[in-house]
Amino acid sequence: MTILITGANRGIGLELARHYVAKGERVIATTRDQIPADLETKAEWIVLDVTNPASFARVDAALDGHAIDLLICNAGVLLDRHERLDDGYAAKIWADTFAVNVTGPFLTVQNLLPNLQAAKAAKVVIIASKMGSNTHAKGGSYVYRASKAAAINLASNLACDLSHLGISVGAYHPGWVQTDMGGSSADIPATEAVAGLTKAFADLSLATTGCFQNYDGTDLPF
Ligand SMILES: NC(=O)c1ccc[n+]([C@@H]2O[C@H](COP(=O)([O-])OP(=O)(O)OC[C@H]3O[C@@H](n4cnc5c(N)ncnc54)[C@H](OP(=O)(O)O)[C@@H]3O)[C@@H](O)[C@H]2O)c1
Repeated sequence: MTILITGANRGIGLELARHYVAKGERVIATTRDQIPADLETKAEWIVLDVTNPASFARVDAALDGHAIDLLICNAGVLLDRHERLDDGYAAKIWADTFAVNVTGPFLTVQNLLPNLQAAKAAKVVIIASKMGSNTHAKGGSYVYRASKAAAINLASNLACDLSHLGISVGAYHPGWVQTDMGGSSADIPATEAVAGLTKAFADLSLATTGCFQNYDGTDLPF
């Protein structure tokens, strides 16, 4: 199986890359800059900024039409952690967040569509967040929440459009995970998130396409 993971140089993406490398899968990992030493030669690294359409040319050239069985749109940012409703949430925070968390997965899927079609029963997974669920609306973090709501919506609509090509699509909440984004007091280590997520990805099929699931494989409300 060939797996492409965006934002694989740290956090959940790095742990996903480690997991699949340990399983002997072919891992194509993307990074904007740094390459983790332990995976330097065990994964194939491509420089990709998911906000930059021109950056995808490098990916296309490196892949050279090779089939991708599992595309993991993981790269993400949380930029509005400490904003105040009365004077915060500047327009730039909205633009920068949506560029990575929404446009990013869209451009990734759009550019890799030929590679997904070259695989049998390819899967696309978008790492979203429970914070994007309307049912779990708790206020605050307006930008991040709206971007992840859009990412879940993106997965639902891609699922509709790609099912006739045999490609299944799901959105996933990784849990509250101990990474740079989640912080050290988060609920679970990245290894636990990845153990659950990778089982959930394995269960994704055309029968479940369009799902929004927790890292333990249970369905989440939209
Ligand atoms: N941690 C949590 O509790 C949690 C909860 C729910 C959802 N999530 C989601 O899970 C995903 C991974 O989060 P994480 O906790 O692993 O975050 P993280 O530790 O902050 O890592 C984020 C990754 O995304 C990459 N990235 C950011 N902007 C990018 C861009 N423009 N192009 C390409 N890559 C870019 C980063 O690369 P650089 O090193 O170059 O910045 C890094 O590899 C995100 O989508 C996040 O929203 C996380």
